[in-house]
Amino acid sequence: MFSGIDFMSDTVTQPTEAMKRAMCDARLGDEQKREDPTTLALEERVAALLGKERALFFPSATMANEVAILTHCERGAELVAAENSHIFFAEAGAPSVWAGAQARTIETESGIFSGDAIRSKMRFPRGPGFPVCQLVVVENTTNMGGGRAWELHELQDVWETCRSLGLKSHLDGSRLFNAGVATGRSPAELAYGFDSVTLCLSKGLGCAAGAVLAFSNAVEPIVRRWKQCMGGSLRQSGMLAAAGLYALDHHIERLKDDHANAQVLADGLKRLESIEVENAYPSTNMVFFRTRREGLFPTQWAEACLRKGVRFSQVGENRFRAVTHLGINEEDVQKSIHILKEIENALRGLT
Ligand SMILES: Cc1ncc(COP(=O)(O)O)c(C=O)c1O
Repeated sequence: MFSGIDFMSDTVTQPTEAMKRAMCDARLGDEQKREDPTTLALEERVAALLGKERALFFPSATMANEVAILTHCERGAELVAAENSHIFFAEAGAPSVWAGAQARTIETESGIFSGDAIRSKMRFPRGPGFPVCQLVVVENTTNMGGGRAWELHELQDVWETCRSLGLKSHLDGSRLFNAGVATGRSPAELAYGFDSVTLCLSKGLGCAAGAVLAFSNAVEPIVRRWKQCMGGSLRQSGMLAAAGLYALDHHIERLKDDHANAQVLADGLKRLESIEVENAYPSTNMVFFRTRREGLFPTQWAEACLRKGVRFSQVGENRFRAVTHLGINEEDVQKSIHILKEIENALRGLT
């Protein structure tokens, strides 16, 4: 286990002592039989927060996304999503594996796209030989798109387009609270026009595991069936749900600190010669950057960082992502910038 300053992802957080106490004190029952009171309480709370009729607890955001896709798509259907969206590039081809749906992707660096971009992906002519588009998936915030939060008018454009084309829409809101904090919009406002919404507990909210999928009464039997089918029904999941309830009470407000720390990091990285920052003004908790000195091998740089106790995720040949979270404070960020400066000086001699 890496024990340094870990910018790898906001999934690396450890539960706080208070969160662990909440987990230990949770009232438990059999979730699969709908008898776990803590899980039921979390589901009710999330449904209300997102302005949806129902919500169900899931072991992971990936499973929640895939059950949503199974719910909205028939075999052979097409779905539209950003090319750099998690459901397309990091869920092991799952939409095609489970739902038998193929993705028609939109090329967008930021992960944000317009209603016109969706329209441009519709198939004409129509007929038995052509796949039928049934679903649009939006990611908010956009992970590989720079952690960008969608503006409300951008979402409204997507909702209106989906409505006019008769498409369902799913929100991968794994980091929806980051988007809410960044835009000043409530989760319900950002979720309003979507048919289903995934909320992840184990990213910015700092839980060890879990996600919640919210949706309408009309699809509840289908969602439940696919959850069972995927092995997502649990037993005493209240221990995980209790962490989720704790996080909703204590870990949303503080996301602004993560965003501020991402800005401090971006500002520090900008001062380094060896690094080019992609998003100089991070929208939320992610900073993307490239190593740029000629002759500087990105892996050599990353290894030097690891040896000095700082970790990033390498997301391209010389592209890196830094994610701030509750395990990182401003002092850690300043210390990391200092370490990177030392590495820059040390590697200067090698090039
Ligand atoms: C935008 C987004 N959606 C979904 C997921 C899947 O989450 P999990 O790996 O917890 O299933 C991730 C994970 O990083 C993500 O970044």
